[in-house]
Amino acid sequence: MRPMREKFGSKLGAVLAAAGSAVGLGNIWRFPIETGRNGGAAFILIYIGCIFLIGLPVMLSEFVIGRSSQCNTAGAYRKLAPGTQWKWVGRLGVLTGFVIMSYYVVVAGWTIQYAWLALTNQFAGRTAEDFPVIFNNFATNPWQPIVCLVIFVWLTHYVIVKGVTRGIERWSKILMPLLFVLVFILVVASVCMPGAGEGLRFLLQPDFSKVNSVVALNAMGQAFYSLSLGMGALCTYASYFDKQISLSRAAMNICLIDTLIALMAGFIIFPAASAAGYRLQSGDIGASLLFITLPNVFQQAFAAVPLLSYVFSLLFYLLIILAALTSTISLHEVVTSYMTEEFGFKRSRAALIETVTCMLLGCLCSLSFGPLRGIKLAGLTIFDLFDWTSSNLLLPIGGMLISLFVGWYLKRELVRNELTNYGTLRLRGLRVLIFILRFVAPLAILGILLNQLHLF
Ligand code: TRP
Repeated sequence: MRPMREKFGSKLGAVLAAAGSAVGLGNIWRFPIETGRNGGAAFILIYIGCIFLIGLPVMLSEFVIGRSSQCNTAGAYRKLAPGTQWKWVGRLGVLTGFVIMSYYVVVAGWTIQYAWLALTNQFAGRTAEDFPVIFNNFATNPWQPIVCLVIFVWLTHYVIVKGVTRGIERWSKILMPLLFVLVFILVVASVCMPGAGEGLRFLLQPDFSKVNSVVALNAMGQAFYSLSLGMGALCTYASYFDKQISLSRAAMNICLIDTLIALMAGFIIFPAASAAGYRLQSGDIGASLLFITLPNVFQQAFAAVPLLSYVFSLLFYLLIILAALTSTISLHEVVTSYMTEEFGFKRSRAALIETVTCMLLGCLCSLSFGPLRGIKLAGLTIFDLFDWTSSNLLLPIGGMLISLFVGWYLKRELVRNELTNYGTLRLRGLRVLIFILRFVAPLAILGILLNQLHLF
């Protein structure tokens, strides 16, 4: 006999856990970079459109698959489509989970180091020339980043072995509110800086002359990544949802929270950057944003009051740690639940296997900034390869297959039952939803895929 499957104990816990998965480095690191690169306010408007037009329907699909099957993501397809090849969609998701986790923890580990540097006041008195040096010395060091990454994976492991209710749900309920508070404080501080106006204008005044199809596709890719779609993370979480939860309301709330946090991250970063004298239009905000630009921004923007620089930097890196942690928890859970349910491992054993594997792969990714810099495939280092394949290839392919599965394969009755909780909730727009899942989302995602392959 299998032990009873665990469940999230409350609606709030379920929504916060799923929102925790969505809110992560994608919101605080990738979103501002993409916004900067694609011209600001106009990009944001398109992004919001993508979230609700494509992201929300695909999220609902993952929810339907997860909750109706009550299984890990690979088991879900076996159960809903027995004897077919759809099982590969679930397996692809588990593989993607491994790949994302392995490079994600490298960057997450860096944030631990930066929180430490902030705590011990090591940014004080530094100038713009110092920060690239600090970062390069750290990232290329063979062991320091690995120590940080190991700490980060252990934190994740600690939560995962406690289980769904006492681990994931409990910690989501602690970490997410903390995250909201931190974001809020930082937005207020940033917007009030002298010189913040330029940054606000960049975020609020759309310049549609910059919009073209590439910008739109970038917005869609970002929306997808940010919502954690395409690999069964939300499908796995939904399998722990209670039958009473309204899936459409939960999905709507998660999309709103994720978008709000991304926007607020923008309102932290751009006003502070303009206050520190960066020119936003000319691409000053780039990939080195979190670890080179921002620590300098925090120093310069509050140059008159060093205590504020100290507090701001420390809170900011704590914020990123929290956001990244709730995301790695969900990545970890995809693999852990897969191994427990498909191979009958004990939870602690399954978690340990994933933890150790990710540490090893994570080390490879980390070392590819230093000693293993020379190892390249198609011009990409190991880290870039993991990042590129997962975000640009595996997630879109997974997302496309998920929407095709629900749009074409699943019985419409099953979808309706899940979305209405067997007739107890009202449902409008099922037709529209199915239409989007059949045609609009797959084509749009195909667009993202081709766009990214072309850039490659
Ligand atoms: N959404 C996460 C973020 O914004 C990143 C992510 C992408 C993710 N796919 C995922 C997290 C799957 C968990 C599961 O940082």
